[in-house]
Amino acid sequence: MKINSVSVRNFRNLSEQKIKFAPLLNVICGKNAQGKTNLLEAIYFATIGKSPRTHKDIETIGFGKKNASINLVYQRGGVEHSLDIQMGTSEKKTVLVDGNKTIKLSDIVGQFGSVYFSPDELKLVQGSPGFRRRFIDIINCQLEKQYLKDLRTNQKLLNQRNNLLRQKPVNLKNQLSVWDELLAKNSAKIAMARLRFIEKLQQYAKQIHFDLSNGNEELTINYKGICDKENASEQDFIDAWNTGVQKSLEKDMVLGYSNFGVHCDDFVLKFNGLDLRKNGSQGQQRTATLALKLAEMEILKDEYGEYPVLLLDDVLSELDLLRREKLVNYFKNIQCILTCTEFDLGLNCKIFHMENGLITE
Ligand SMILES: Nc1ncnc2c1ncn2[C@@H]1O[C@H](COP(=O)(O)OP(=O)(O)O)[C@@H](O)[C@H]1O
Ligand SMILES: [Mg+2]
Repeated sequence: MKINSVSVRNFRNLSEQKIKFAPLLNVICGKNAQGKTNLLEAIYFATIGKSPRTHKDIETIGFGKKNASINLVYQRGGVEHSLDIQMGTSEKKTVLVDGNKTIKLSDIVGQFGSVYFSPDELKLVQGSPGFRRRFIDIINCQLEKQYLKDLRTNQKLLNQRNNLLRQKPVNLKNQLSVWDELLAKNSAKIAMARLRFIEKLQQYAKQIHFDLSNGNEELTINYKGICDKENASEQDFIDAWNTGVQKSLEKDMVLGYSNFGVHCDDFVLKFNGLDLRKNGSQGQQRTATLALKLAEMEILKDEYGEYPVLLLDDVLSELDLLRREKLVNYFKNIQCILTCTEFDLGLNCKIFHMENGLITE
């Protein structure tokens, strides 16, 4: 996967412009708050149909502007394709593929692949379970179309269940049982997909982490979800869901929302058997985050048949020399767009300068 060009209009602070990228390493230098991250955000927007930073599209439209657009021209399997995203403060977001075909927003996933990595991603290790679920979900949606549908169904069913818990009708338990039967099945499907994904993630991440830590550390990733039975079947997940929900019913009724389910799922990262979140140093946590992101790249490569574009936002300055060199090894043969305040890697690359929302070569 390679980006030929990106054109933006009214996207955050970026001036209207078209940027042509080189096939391998592209470096965007600039002082703080010039628009470097905004540009990578625009590119990632074309990957998943929304911003990695906010779920409110409106926040990405330039201050005082009514609408914005992103146009991405890229190569996949040697063929040129384009994606056009239009959004406005009052109209619905639309996506156009190859200049003429309008597609559903959910179908943007799986067209163009990229991996976005910024220092913020340390939240994958340090942050709340929500960050880790989001990580799994975003990648898994690119692997399995059905997964996105199941997630949306889960959200709807859960909202219905929570509404009932809040409203407390007299026949609450009867009414809940209707939703619970559907939720149990739907949750089992999501849990199975997450389990499959984590197994894949673990395979790659373990190997990469071993390399990044010079063979000193073994990374393991354990799914912590509604069922901890080994080799659990779909029925095991359904049973575990039913048991868990029964246990939390009293609490749910008191609090007025669901306290058990796949919306509370998490995964635990361990190095050499120790909990990375509690016992890992900053450096170890950074290495693991990097390993997870590089594993994401490998997983997407298996899916797309070619490597996604790597977007590295200000991450080099945070890595020590050894890890920097290792990281460079991972992207030396793929297209990478890297932002920094100062660049001193001494690598062959196309250099851009970002100032006040405008890029110059
Ligand atoms: N919706 C928006 N419209 C216009 N400017 C915005 C918008 N959102 C953020 N900005 C501006 O973008 C700038 C930050 O850009 P950013 O890409 O994060 O900088 P950096 O070069 O440090 O990565 C800030 O000046 C901020 O005010
Ligand atoms: Mg930035």
